[in-house]
Amino acid sequence: MKVVVVGSGGREHALALVLGRTAEVVVTPGNPLIPGSVPTKVEDLVADGSVDLVVVGPEQPLVAGVADRLRKQGVRVFGPGAEGARLEGSKAYMKMIAEEAGLATAAWEAFTDVDDAVRYLNGMDGPYVVKTDGLAAGKGVLVTDSLIDAVNDVRSKLGGTAFGESGRRVVIEEALVGPEVSVFAVCDGTRTVCLPASQDFKRVGDGDAGPNTGGMGAWSPLPFIPEGFEEQVARDFIEPTLAELRQRGIDYRGVLYAGFILTADGPKLLEYNVRFGDPDSQVVLLRMTSDLTELLAAAADGDLTRVPAPTFADASVLVVAASEGYPVVPRTGDAIEGLDAAAACEGATVLGAGVGARPDGTLTTAGGRVLNVIGTGATTDEARTRAYDALGCISWPGEHHRTDIALPPA
Ligand code: AMP
Ligand code: GLY
Repeated sequence: MKVVVVGSGGREHALALVLGRTAEVVVTPGNPLIPGSVPTKVEDLVADGSVDLVVVGPEQPLVAGVADRLRKQGVRVFGPGAEGARLEGSKAYMKMIAEEAGLATAAWEAFTDVDDAVRYLNGMDGPYVVKTDGLAAGKGVLVTDSLIDAVNDVRSKLGGTAFGESGRRVVIEEALVGPEVSVFAVCDGTRTVCLPASQDFKRVGDGDAGPNTGGMGAWSPLPFIPEGFEEQVARDFIEPTLAELRQRGIDYRGVLYAGFILTADGPKLLEYNVRFGDPDSQVVLLRMTSDLTELLAAAADGDLTRVPAPTFADASVLVVAASEGYPVVPRTGDAIEGLDAAAACEGATVLGAGVGARPDGTLTTAGGRVLNVIGTGATTDEARTRAYDALGCISWPGEHHRTDIALPPA
C-alpha cells in the first residue's frame, strides 16, 4: 500500500513511522528529519493513481476542503471534509453540535456584541473562559480568575485587534475543573474506535507554570483513567456526535480528537479537533502493536467492522525540546547537535517538529517546538528515563524543555 501523509511536524513524523511498518509512505512537505519527505503537492502526488490512501495531518488543509477535493478525484482519504472540519474551525459550531447530540460539556454562549458578552460575564462566577470562535493556532483561549482580564480579552477579541477575522465572535463558557485528557477516536462515518487516552502538558514551564503552548510533552497510558473510559467516550460522546453529523449530511471519516476534563461529575467534553493531537497523539501511535495503515484505510472506506480492535503495548513519554523564546518569539536557525547519539539511545525515538536544514545539510531549529523526544518502555518510569536520557544528548543555544513530564505530583 502507498500512503501519502500531509503535514510537516512531529505528528506527521509519528504517522509516517507507524504507517511505514506496513506501507510505503511519502510525506508532503515533511521536514528534513522525516524519511520520505517530498516537496510535491498532494494533488500532484495522487495524479498518477498510484496512491492508496492520503492521511491529512493538520487542521488547516481539512478546514480548507482538501479531503473533499481529493475524494472528488476518487482518492481514498483519512480526514473529514470541510463541513466536518468545522467542528474545529468554529467553536460555536462545535458547541451547537455537542448540544444537539446531548453531550456533557461546559455551559456556554456565543457573542458578537461586546456589551452582551460583558453582561454575560458579569452574571457568571469565575474562573472565566473566553475563546476566539475560529482557528487561532491554539492561542485563542483565555482561562482566568480575573473578571477584568476576561472583559479586556472580550474587547480585544471582538474589536478585531487580536486574531483578525476569526476573533469576530467569541464563545464564553463555564470553567471545568479536573485533569485534562485526550482521546483519539478513529471514525468511519458511523462507527468509531477510540484509541487509549493520553495527556498533554500545555504550559511552558515545570509545574504547569507560564504561558500556554501547543504542548510541551505527553504520556500514555494514564494510570488515573477510570476503567472502561474509552468505551464510555465512544458510546456517550463520539457515536452521538457521528449520528448528529450524519443527520446533517456529514459523513465524518477521520479522527475526532476529543479533549475532556475529568470533572467530579464525570468526563465533560472541552473541545473537538478534527486531526490527531500534536504531541499527544504521538505517544499513543508509537504504542500501537497492530496495523495503523489497515485501521485508517478501513475508516476511510467507511467500514471499521472489517478490522480487528487495535492493540497497544508499553508506555511512552514524550518531551518537547523547544527553541529559545518559545512560545512568545522563538529564535530559529540554530544548529542542532547530538541527534545521532539521541536516536541511538535504547527505547528512544526522536521526531522532527520544527526542523530545517542549511544548504550543507546541517539540521537547524526552524520553529518553536523543534523536536519531540519519546521514550518507550515497559513502565512509565522506564519510558520517562529513556526520553530524558536521549534528550540529554541533544543541544542548541537556548534549547529548553520541561523536566517534569509524566512525573507523579510532588
Ligand atoms: P481549546 O483551544 O478549546 O483547546 O482550549 C485550550 C485550553 O484551554 C484547553 O486545553 C484547556 O486547558 C483550557 N480550557 C478550554 N476550555 C476550558 C474550560 N471550559 N474550562 C477549563 N479549561 C478550559
Ligand atoms: N496538543 C494540542 C493540540 O494538538 O491541539
